[in-house]
Amino acid sequence: MTRAIRIGLLGRGVVGEGILRLLADHEASIARRLGCPIEVRRVVGRDRSKAPSPRVDPARLSFDPEDVLADEAIDIVVEVIGGLEPAGDYVRRALEAGKSVVTANKALLAERGHELIELSEERGVDLYFEAAVAGGIPVIRVLREALASDTVTRLYGIVNGTSNYILSRMREEGLDFDEALRQAQAKGYAEADPTLDVGGGDAAHKLTILATLAFGAKLAPDAVATEGIAQVGAIDIAMAERFGYVIKPLAVAEERRDGALSLRVHPALVEAGSVLASVSGALNVVVLHGAMNGPCMLSGYGAGALPTAMSVVSDIVDVGRNLVMGASGRVPQRAWRSEHLEARRVAASGQHECRWYLRFSVLDRPGILARISGVLGAFDVSIEQMVQQGRARDSDAAVQIVMLTHEAREANLTAALREIELLSGVVEPVRALRIERVEDQPADELG
Ligand code: NDP
Ligand code: HSE
Repeated sequence: MTRAIRIGLLGRGVVGEGILRLLADHEASIARRLGCPIEVRRVVGRDRSKAPSPRVDPARLSFDPEDVLADEAIDIVVEVIGGLEPAGDYVRRALEAGKSVVTANKALLAERGHELIELSEERGVDLYFEAAVAGGIPVIRVLREALASDTVTRLYGIVNGTSNYILSRMREEGLDFDEALRQAQAKGYAEADPTLDVGGGDAAHKLTILATLAFGAKLAPDAVATEGIAQVGAIDIAMAERFGYVIKPLAVAEERRDGALSLRVHPALVEAGSVLASVSGALNVVVLHGAMNGPCMLSGYGAGALPTAMSVVSDIVDVGRNLVMGASGRVPQRAWRSEHLEARRVAASGQHECRWYLRFSVLDRPGILARISGVLGAFDVSIEQMVQQGRARDSDAAVQIVMLTHEAREANLTAALREIELLSGVVEPVRALRIERVEDQPADELG
């Protein structure tokens, strides 16, 4: 057996503690796989009042990141602090010092991943990030290695555990949004800033990373058209169900016929009988459509201490294997050799075509329905089904009209809704949600 692989752990929050537990519980089996033990040489936190982990020798605990970055004996820096800074600075300095890095930080990778990965390649070290996308699901490895001979044409799924947890609890237990978010935070699923979860930013970071690996494209998160789940109300969940759908927080990346990539994060209706509809709580799912392989579906926990720690520690083992063999860079970190990554055109968001769920809050006056459908028709948006939720007679309360449309171009729909919201009798902004085709969509029907 060779000497231990020595790690320095930056961050001792939900994921940091999970890593320490996993390393302790699986110490022997990991050493048997790796050929040597993993030694936690230093754990760095920020809050001195927080009780030290029972799994760490108190002499190893520090509050100064320099104790990791400047320690020449440390082979791998494990960054689970989160956010762009100071985490980004620590990662850069670790790589510059010739240390490999394992991180779960999708925000950092989506914003600065290209620069940091290129730095790691220059220095001949590894920067691994399996835990950054979909927690315990090994989707990065699948894209890097298992699908190396295929061409991904479309990928989609649920990649934010917090949003999925919130919508699931609202649907299954009737919780309100705020209470469901509080529960997700208590379970350790949410980001330090949960608006990243519910606003779609976290999923956009993950989709940027996935699409980079899937399409060999140099992408940034501003390429992703992003909508959060805050606009989804209990009434939408119930109405969707009435039409045979479930509302899920989706991330979708697809190559259109015109060669542009379409990248979207938004809540959408999926058929109640689909596999996606059954992926509930903090579970995530990613479907990768290969030109040769067809659909490949991966599901598991996308958030939480232990699934995330599992991915981080598997990366540590992988990097450790490279160190043991004196190798690095055999498998490109972004799945494609850096010199062959391309700048790809991204489709403008208004070009997307799909069916829509529309909810209008209106005063129940004669002619309102005709005016709404007239505007939709003028913009080439055709109604497929409709229901009106009744009102108490003689009440002035608004009624809800819900329509499902045939396929309509997003730009047309947006223009129509802008006009409809100006009609007298329409009392609230229209709720518009996409209806996404899942599982059964052949790649050649796109764009
Ligand atoms: P937490 O907020 O629970 O933990 C963050 C840790 O970083 C805390 O221990 C905090 O210390 C420490 N920290 C913050 N700033 C500094 C600093 N300047 N110097 C040293 N330590 C610092 O976050 P999570 O563990 O949930 O997430 C960590 C990372 O993992 C994030 O990038 C997140 O996106 C990612 N991730 C999280 C998942 C999850 O399910 N939670 C799943 C997948 C990825 P202190 O407590 O002392 O303030
Ligand atoms: N906040 C993230 C989520 C953690 O809820 O999915 C996992 O990346």
